[in-house]
Amino acid sequence: MKGLPETPVLICSRRKIREKFEVLSRCLPGVQHFYAAKANFHPKIIREVVSLGMGLDVSSPGELSLARENSLPGEKVIYTQPIKKEEEIALAREHGVKALIFDNPHEAKKIARVWKGAPVLLRIKVENPFCVVNLSEKFGAAPDDAKELLLLAKDLGLEVRGIAFHVGSQTTNPSPYFETLKIVRRLFNIMAGEGLHLDLLDIGGGFPIAYRQPVMAAESFLKPIRATLENYFPSTEIISEPGRFIVGDACYLLTKIVGKARRKGMIWYYIDDGLYGSFSGKVYDHADYPIHPLKEGERKPSVIAGPTCDSFDVVYREAYLPEMEPGDYMVFKSMGAYTLASASNFNGLEKPRLIIQEEEEIEFQIL
Ligand SMILES: Cc1ncc(COP(=O)(O)O)c(C=O)c1O
Repeated sequence: MKGLPETPVLICSRRKIREKFEVLSRCLPGVQHFYAAKANFHPKIIREVVSLGMGLDVSSPGELSLARENSLPGEKVIYTQPIKKEEEIALAREHGVKALIFDNPHEAKKIARVWKGAPVLLRIKVENPFCVVNLSEKFGAAPDDAKELLLLAKDLGLEVRGIAFHVGSQTTNPSPYFETLKIVRRLFNIMAGEGLHLDLLDIGGGFPIAYRQPVMAAESFLKPIRATLENYFPSTEIISEPGRFIVGDACYLLTKIVGKARRKGMIWYYIDDGLYGSFSGKVYDHADYPIHPLKEGERKPSVIAGPTCDSFDVVYREAYLPEMEPGDYMVFKSMGAYTLASASNFNGLEKPRLIIQEEEEIEFQIL
């Protein structure tokens, strides 16, 4: 096929990133969005989201340096890693970030030691059977412990701003947001009774995108969250940390078939990216990316394998594909989030390049 860029390459659509941000802004008016850099921290993506007016949710010194490189002022940056080195807290202080997250007494004391008066949010854990990636096992205080932790933070001299939660990534039903917001409202009331008036709420990320399975339309998913926020928090400052929703379906991966073999009655196609590269999202993020062979023909049971020496590096064990040849291309959609971000250079292989352009330019056949 003529005119295609060198592979493997992640091709991102500027228009789609913009549209996703517009959907969030329209459906959650008044909420300030901080793009979760961990989803895809490629400098071109960060530049793009910053140019749209988004803040950044960062969780490491490396991500914080992206904020610095993009001249983002402190009020547009939140540092959301609940467990941090003292050096990270010092860097966050230097940048003057809007808020730091804590979820336990040790962390509150550590923050107070390094940055007296730091603005903080307490992260609470969330019960959620609808998420693909659980984010409340490793982090988050039990809501029953929130009062004690918030009062401790206040006694330590921290500027206690409010509460943060993350329902879990790729949450396919909005009900955990409603339930958690109800719990958070109760906590705001309890703290007001203690003379601590919380004024900042961080509703995290978790908004879903379609992979091989469809998801609820974004408007239907987000509008009841908006109604719940308006009902419970009419005068609280609200922020969010979307990652996947912004970049996930804005990028596709273009790969080339570099080899072909027949093994045990199946056709094996070897492509130039795999589980150690951007398909690492299949391992860590449990995502199932739609496959688009750029060829027509009768479909046959096939295997798609990555380029490394490891037998583990099999990307799809059962795909139905038209017969293809080395040199043909395959596209995998919805590969913008948690793909390149977790790719390695195993076997000395280069990670895919990332290019960003106004529109998608390949006509896809749908598998
Ligand atoms: C603290 C925090 N904020 C935001 C995000 C982004 O979540 P999502 O990509 O589901 O929107 C994550 C994802 O792991 C996270 O851990």
